[in-house]
Amino acid sequence: MISKKLQDAINAQINRELFSEYLYISMQAWFANQNLDGCANWMDAQGKEERFHAMKFFNYVIERGGKVELKAIEQPTIDFETPLKAFMAALNHEQFITKSINDLMDLAIKEKDHASRGLLQWYVDEQVEEESAADKIVSRLKMIGSDIHALFMLDSELGQRVFTPPVAPA
Ligand code: FEO
Repeated sequence: MISKKLQDAINAQINRELFSEYLYISMQAWFANQNLDGCANWMDAQGKEERFHAMKFFNYVIERGGKVELKAIEQPTIDFETPLKAFMAALNHEQFITKSINDLMDLAIKEKDHASRGLLQWYVDEQVEEESAADKIVSRLKMIGSDIHALFMLDSELGQRVFTPPVAPA
């Protein structure tokens, strides 16, 4: 059975992952309003991925005999000003999530909870990809600057993204 301390910390992380979904669909709405449908599609896929992250923790808590306690989800930012600022906000958010996953891992190590360490290692690895994906788009948007043609090319590329769950939630 999972300790109360770790259970509470994972419940807080479920809230952060659900907030992540909320933040990304807020970005999706903003991009859709800018007629950048490819970027909106990328955010849609990212939102679905966050939901998967939340449910993987959700299922784990239940599997370990714990209790899932859902909390209120904070309102996300709704105006992102420019595509670059939106993706920079995504990158900053992923860096924040990485820190929270690392804190959870520290707690699992302290509690000698090996099962949770195994689960959290999946998230540690996932965060490397999450940060890298956002960072790459930020770098490209910086190169694009005010070149509208290049922006539409990137938008078209981001329109190809499809979210496929890597594995069934644990
Ligand atoms: Fe669930 Fe984007 O980290």
